[in-house]
Amino acid sequence: MVPCLHVATPLKDEKGDIVGIIEDFRDITELERVEINLAKAHYKLRQQNEKLKRLNNLQKIFLNVTSHELRTPMAAIKGYTDLLTMGTLGDLTDEQKEAISVMRRNIDRLDNLIKDILDISRLESGTLSIQPTKCDLLEIITEVLATMRFTAETKNIIIETNIDNNLPPIYADRDRIKQVLINLLGNAIKFSDSGSKIILSAKRDKNNVVIAVKDFGRGIPKNKQKKIFEPFYQVDSGMDRKFGGVGLGLAITRGIVEAHDGKITVESQVGKGSTFFVKLPLKPSFIKSEKRFSIFRDEKALPEISFRPSHSELEKLIDEMAGNAKK
Ligand SMILES: Nc1ncnc2c1ncn2[C@@H]1O[C@H](COP(=O)(O)OP(=O)(O)O)[C@@H](O)[C@H]1O
Ligand SMILES: [Mg+2]
Repeated sequence: MVPCLHVATPLKDEKGDIVGIIEDFRDITELERVEINLAKAHYKLRQQNEKLKRLNNLQKIFLNVTSHELRTPMAAIKGYTDLLTMGTLGDLTDEQKEAISVMRRNIDRLDNLIKDILDISRLESGTLSIQPTKCDLLEIITEVLATMRFTAETKNIIIETNIDNNLPPIYADRDRIKQVLINLLGNAIKFSDSGSKIILSAKRDKNNVVIAVKDFGRGIPKNKQKKIFEPFYQVDSGMDRKFGGVGLGLAITRGIVEAHDGKITVESQVGKGSTFFVKLPLKPSFIKSEKRFSIFRDEKALPEISFRPSHSELEKLIDEMAGNAKK
């Protein structure tokens, strides 16, 4: 027996009267085979999809547990180093003080790294929460400058400001915007020579505010200006890692800005300096707090994180599908 498709077409004369029937029996063995194979492939894809969903949930649990379990002991260690530094637990020799300050610097470094890794994972999994309120940008800038002035002074760098007098309020997550400015100023300081200058400006541009962080440091080659926003990318990975940081700051910064419906761009010339522009709408049409969006834009820049089906798994699936189709 051969599966058939029976098609009957009426045959009409010039007047349109039916004078006969053309009958056509088509062998649909091939078609049926393709259909079965499609159903099989569909089933496999659904299974893969379920697996990915489970991995995604696992990632969320992992994030919650890690953020708690890594950061709580860190807070305790920090607290005790503070008590030791303040002399609350007794007098310390100069050598002990020096040792504690080295400990503290390294704890801060580790803490920042954990925070960055958690942020990038949250951005990637769509769980970075953005809590927007009406905020005064001048106030945010003043607080950020108070935090960053000390770091700038250690390199004898002056931060000049050029802020519009009547900046309108913005609708944004205060702490996250502070984080954006701290990242940009931190980079500007890090990649400038001692005694250099940084200009932080903010102005209204139609329905947006534009914040610019300008430095006169080493600059970024043209062909790297897009890549620096990818996670873990550093222009000179050997050198730049020594400065502290693993290349997550700008990816997080871009993620936060885009979650505010904003845009971040850079203009730079090697040896002359760089300016990073952050454009934030006064009234964002959306705040991507819960929406999942990929922080990795350049697939080639993807590090080997295996929350995605492995290459060999995919290859096996494709082989099976191809094999089924050939059977
Ligand atoms: N202001 C700047 N001047 C020169 N290079 C910069 C500047 N900001 C960023 N970069 C380059 O972009 C890379 C990525 O920046 P970022 O994501 O903040 O990572 P990190 O600061 O941890 O190295 C830096 O390692 C550096 O190579
Ligand atoms: Mg950085």
